[in-house]
Amino acid sequence: METKVFKPSAVDQAAALIAAGQLVAFPTETVYGLGADATNVAAVKQVYQAKGRPSDNPLIVHVADVATVERFAKPLSINAKRLIKAFWPGPLTMIFNLKPDALAPEVTGGLTTAAFRNPANAATIALIKAAKTPIVGPSANTSGKPSPTTAQHVLHDLDGKIAGILDDGATKVGVESTVLDLSGDQPAILRPGAVTAEAIEAVIDEPVLTEQHHVGATEVPKAPGMKYKHYAPDAQVYIVDHVTDWPAALTWAAQQNVPMGVMATDTVLKANKLPANCEQYSLGNDVQSASRNLFAGLRHFDTETSIKDILAQAFDNQGLGAAYMNRLNKSAGQTHFRV
Ligand code: TXA
Ligand code: MG
Repeated sequence: METKVFKPSAVDQAAALIAAGQLVAFPTETVYGLGADATNVAAVKQVYQAKGRPSDNPLIVHVADVATVERFAKPLSINAKRLIKAFWPGPLTMIFNLKPDALAPEVTGGLTTAAFRNPANAATIALIKAAKTPIVGPSANTSGKPSPTTAQHVLHDLDGKIAGILDDGATKVGVESTVLDLSGDQPAILRPGAVTAEAIEAVIDEPVLTEQHHVGATEVPKAPGMKYKHYAPDAQVYIVDHVTDWPAALTWAAQQNVPMGVMATDTVLKANKLPANCEQYSLGNDVQSASRNLFAGLRHFDTETSIKDILAQAFDNQGLGAAYMNRLNKSAGQTHFRV
């Protein structure tokens, strides 16, 4: 199948494909999603196929308005309404209890809850409205690979496997949305993102559980996606924990008789001379730009170089840094450079 690339001005054509049960990748402020009509079971099944995604891993339902959430979910709590008012449209996904049989098990992974999100991207909101249906969307990458932050990344993984892609340029946040579970007794962050625990606690009158849920082999995970290998480039990533570790890390890199990648901020890159066998990928100036550039950098080394080893800079594990470090740790399989 030929994958058609649509500009935002051609959103109606992309919407017609969704309405016809086809797959169309769409932009959001976080990463690109792989879209299908959330009410069309055959279309939803194709999403799993195209991605190679395990079928027990539920999908986020992207909506253009709160009324659509209320069509499927049980009545929203005061806190849910406050969070919607504070953060939608934006990178906060919320998990709500569903009315009986409101969505197909292919969407929910057989759970009685579903994840909803109202993305901050005008073209995608127009897409949902024109298709006249909510759109499921996992990240539009091959399962296990870094999430796509450009249309080119999506094409690299899914060209020929999907009907279209709505291209609105590079995404702004770069790491996936915060997933907040509001279906239980206490709000719990299942995946950190740009909407931080502190920001959520400032809006609601309850503490938020942030403890990362570590999933054992036999345990049923809260967010089923968390048990799978994630964001893993072909190259091995080594996390450089402290800015002061870079001289030692680069000395070690120089001793390896292979080309190496270096992902670090401009400050680090300016302060340290790179050995000849190292290629740099700038993470920009701060944790915002680092989050925006992380997946693109990992993909760059995999697809445009022969590099098999990457040194990558850590950030403080707070605020947006918690989301960045969550993704970086998974990319690296928890491997750190040790001085
Ligand atoms: O930023 C994002 O959230 C992107 C864009 C495209 O919106 N989407 C995204 O989707 O990252 P995905 O499928 O790659 O990640 C969704 C995560 C998975 O870990 C999944 O297991 C979890 O949310 N999830 C979805 N529905 C759930 C539910 N009912 N209960 C618990 N976890 C759920
Ligand atoms: Mg994903």
